[in-house]
Amino acid sequence: MVEISTSLLNAKKDQIIKTIYDIEVAGTDYIHIDVMDGKFVEKDTTEFMRECSECAKNITNLPLDVHLMVKDVENYIKSYLAIEPHSITFHLEACKNNKEVMKNISLIRENGVKIGISIKPKTPVEQVYEYLPYVHKVLIMTVEPGKGGQKFIPDTLEKINKLNIFAYENGYDIDIQVDGGIDNNTCENVKNAGANILVAGTYIINSTDYKKAILSLK
Ligand code: DX5
Ligand code: ZN
Repeated sequence: MVEISTSLLNAKKDQIIKTIYDIEVAGTDYIHIDVMDGKFVEKDTTEFMRECSECAKNITNLPLDVHLMVKDVENYIKSYLAIEPHSITFHLEACKNNKEVMKNISLIRENGVKIGISIKPKTPVEQVYEYLPYVHKVLIMTVEPGKGGQKFIPDTLEKINKLNIFAYENGYDIDIQVDGGIDNNTCENVKNAGANILVAGTYIINSTDYKKAILSLK
């Protein structure tokens, strides 16, 4: 069974409490927190995502799935550790070298939080292989990070499939998460390719029936 992580990126700021309540009732498995710094990507969602996270902490026990699209990975990890999320995912492309990747991994692990590493659509999937013994999940971006509501990039399916086979053949028990342009049409292909956690933002948030939308993805 796949799990669904609902992104709050396109949720209405003045309805955040109601949205969190409604997605919980609708059966989301995680709340996806899209942190953007205005540097790694153009948009800056730092303040809004801080608000969403604090609000979620106050009203639900749903696990927070933090996706850092930031340049200064270390400092953002430190600030998000404080809210005790379920997982923190950072981008491989934001790190200067292997040493920096490993340092970020250790920082998250020392705090008992699950570790995710993410790659953009154009980054070859082989680049994450060396980190598989140390992470809990790989987030394969299926759109360019930066905004919600974009069209799914079909070329990413091959990367999901390759990673799924490589992880299986080498005995790595990791989650494969996908993010961007996931809806009731694209979900079938990503699941067949091996993804087991689907992030969806606009498809769920813009629907009139969250429960139906989540069920259709599962
Ligand atoms: C994109 C973000 C997303 C994304 C999901 O940079 O990481 O989580 O906005 O939204 P949809 O489902 O609208 O593509
Ligand atoms: Zn995301």
